[in-house]
Order: sequence, then structure tokens, then C-alpha cells
Amino acid sequence: MDFTQYNTRDLWQKDIDHVIHPWAYYPEFEKDGALVVAESEGAYVYDADGKRYLDGIGGIWCVNIGYGRPEMAEAIADQVMKIPYFNAFTDTTTPAVAEFANRLCSIAPDNLNHVFMSTGGSVANDSAVRIAHHYFSRLGKPEKRKVLSHVQGYHGSTYLAMSLTGMPGSHKNFHIDTDLVAYVECPYVYRRPDGMTEADFCDHLVSEFAKKVESIGADTIAAFIAEPILGSGGVIVPPQGYHQRIAAICKQNEILYISDEVVTGFGRLGHWFASEAEFGIKPDMITSAKGITSGYLPMGATLISDQIHDVITSQAIGDNVFSHGFTYSGHPVACAAGLMNMHIIERDGILEHVQQVGPYFESALAALKELPIVGDVRGKKFMLCVESVANKETKALLPDDAHIGKRIAKEAEKRGLIVRPSGHLNILSPTLILTEAQIDNLVSTLRASIETVTDELVRAGYKIG
Ligand SMILES: Cc1ncc(COP(=O)(O)O)c(C=O)c1O
Repeated sequence: MDFTQYNTRDLWQKDIDHVIHPWAYYPEFEKDGALVVAESEGAYVYDADGKRYLDGIGGIWCVNIGYGRPEMAEAIADQVMKIPYFNAFTDTTTPAVAEFANRLCSIAPDNLNHVFMSTGGSVANDSAVRIAHHYFSRLGKPEKRKVLSHVQGYHGSTYLAMSLTGMPGSHKNFHIDTDLVAYVECPYVYRRPDGMTEADFCDHLVSEFAKKVESIGADTIAAFIAEPILGSGGVIVPPQGYHQRIAAICKQNEILYISDEVVTGFGRLGHWFASEAEFGIKPDMITSAKGITSGYLPMGATLISDQIHDVITSQAIGDNVFSHGFTYSGHPVACAAGLMNMHIIERDGILEHVQQVGPYFESALAALKELPIVGDVRGKKFMLCVESVANKETKALLPDDAHIGKRIAKEAEKRGLIVRPSGHLNILSPTLILTEAQIDNLVSTLRASIETVTDELVRAGYKIG
């Protein structure tokens, strides 16, 4: 690695001057700017000055196979030289698109044998809703068009995907389609009502869901979209049995179940897809992105059931044609990257590695619960989160001006670890190749960072405990 090629200050300034950073907190961003991440290898990234960081966030939920895979570079370059692009519209395709679709469907649950390709998670979710609308319209039920989603669910940032997203903070100062989407309660076990057991909480959520369906009217609801574990909303693992019970209500009411596996797919929970393998449900559609190419190239995929496919393709002539598609609905280079990604995951036993090392990661991180500001440590395998509180008994949060998640992330960054701040949370979604020794290092660095920040807060007069 040659870091002399980078002028960090110049890059830093150009970035501040011209790049729009989503979700940046400008009072701080204008002062601190962005960390210029310039090179990478394995589980680590390097800033433009050559400082090494253990990447605790996998780029952002995506570099599943780790950095610097020469075979990915070769597969991508090879495809560029064979054919960089040709459309897969009405009557043309490319070998990479056909092979990728075939391989992808072979690893998906057995009812999902067809894929609509796009460029990322938001568009994969938009496409799922558009497919649901087209499906019911073709069945003669165009009034079935509303979509249910979770409060705190995150499904992306296009107009439609942000409407599906149940985060009121992200809706502020924008417009969303309130006529299309209705939100159901977040299955936030840690913050369930006092005195309720987890099982009671599950009963409560299921009963509220059923009531919501009844009050809106099943004949107007096309789909329910949900992440198996809510990711950006706070790594929220629903109570045991929740997904299966909700899926059963959906089935009874002819509501399509869309499982948003943009984060949970491609090994993060130790399976190609988590819906069936981890949570025992067979969705009507699964959406995927991020880990599908390990972030090496943009790609989104909407996998659909045979049943939906049969309806949307039957008599698809004239007005009935499925008129939804993008220039990059099947980009050969992204597909070549996707094929190589699946090959590497399989060849290197990455799913098995996550299954073996994931529980170690969970329990190593859970030890942080003994710290005075750590209220909860949750998640599964390589999708984990630490929730900070001012008082563990009452679960009261620290005031916003403590910027707790951000402070911890900044302290960790100084120590050579990248973790993601999100309000009072710190989220971990590293590459899936971490060894136990790297996990130990990650956890001890995070622990030291939380301890330092706690001392700072106490000195600054924040009340803890
Ligand atoms: C669960 C989930 N769905 C959808 C998206 C949107 O994906 P993209 O940013 O690729 O559009 C994200 C992004 O973080 C996500 O976490």
C-alpha cells in the first residue's frame, strides 16, 4: 500500500465542499469532516495516512467476504472485457445474468425461483411493492394495495422505500405516502412494557397486528414487509415465534409476506437467507442487496415465488405486460461479482464460520453489559448492537447532547476500531471473516472506549446510574 499518493487534507476538503453525506450531523460534520478511508485488506481498512482500523461495520452491513479479494477483481475485470453491459429487457440476456439468476435461485428457499434485479436495497423493496400491486391487479383485486411495515423498520431511501420505513425522524422535512403504508408496533423486546414477559409481549404484538389488519381491511392490504432482525432501527430481534405467527396471519388474509434480507442475507446470520433457516418462515418475496456482491458492486434483487411469477407472466400481453424495469435490471458485471461472491462464501465455508464464531461474538460482546452505561447488548451472530442508557434500572436514556453513540464511535476510532453510531446505539456488522482473536480485540477496544467516554460524561456532570 502506498499512502504517499494521498493528500489527506486535500481529499478531506474536497469531500466537505462537494459530497452530500446522508444523515450527517452538520454542526459536527462541518468541523470534523469525514474520515478518508483509502485502502483495505481482509477485515481492516486504512485511512489515507495509513492508519489501520478493524472494520466493525463491514463498510456498512455489506463487505461480507472481507476486503482485497483478488478473485473478485479478476471476475469483474474479466466480465468488463467480455461484455460490460447489455440489457436484459424483453428478449436479450447475457451469460452472467442467466448464470447468476440460476445460482441465486438455487440458494433461496425452494418456493422462490425467479429474480428481478436492480441496483440496491431501496429499489429491490420498491420493486417488491410494485410486483405485489401488479400481482393483485392481475388477479382482479387492484384495491389490495396497502403495505404494512414496522415502526423502526428501515427499508431504504427512495420515496416508496422511505414510506415503508417506519422511522419518524427520517420522515421529518420530507413527504411520504401515508395513504399507502400503515405501521405496526416495533417488536422491541428490551423496551417492552414493564412487567410483560417476552411471551406475553409476543402475544400482544400478534394480537395488535391482527387488529390492524381487521381495522384496515384485508381486502385493501397487498403486503407486509419486514426485516427478520430490524437492522438500522436498532438491531431488534423480535420475540421467539413472532415471525411465524405474523406470517400465518398474512397467509390467512392473502397478504404477501416480503422479507427484507438486505442485511440478514448472505451469511450475516450464518445462512444464505435467514427467513426460513433462522426464523422458520417461507416468504412470498425476499429482497436482497449489500452482501449479495459483498458491496464490491451495486446490486439489488427481489426474489419472488412461483405463484407470483405465474400470475405476472400469464397472458402478459398488451396492457398486462409487467412494465417495471431499469437499465440495470441485470447488469452483467454486478452479476459476475455476485457469482464470484457466492463462490467465495461457499469455498471458504463462510456460512459455517459465522455459525461457529457467531455465538462466541454474541457472548464476548454480552460481557459489556456489566458496564454502568450499557443497558442492553443484543442481536445475533454478526449483527449486534450495544444500547447505552443513563440508568440501567429505569432504562432512561442519556440526554441527546451527550451524543453517546457518536462519542463512543469517535473514541473507538482513535483506538483503531470503526463502530457505527446511531443515536444512543453502537451497531456492529463486521466482515464475516473475523477470527476469535479479532473479535476479542474488537470487544476489548469497544469496552475501553465506553469506559473512557463514561468517565468523561461523569466529569462533565451527566448523571449515570
Ligand atoms: C434492511 C434494509 N433494507 C433496505 C436498505 C436500503 O438499501 P440501499 O441503501 O442499498 O438502497 C437497507 C440499507 O441499509 C437496509 O438496511
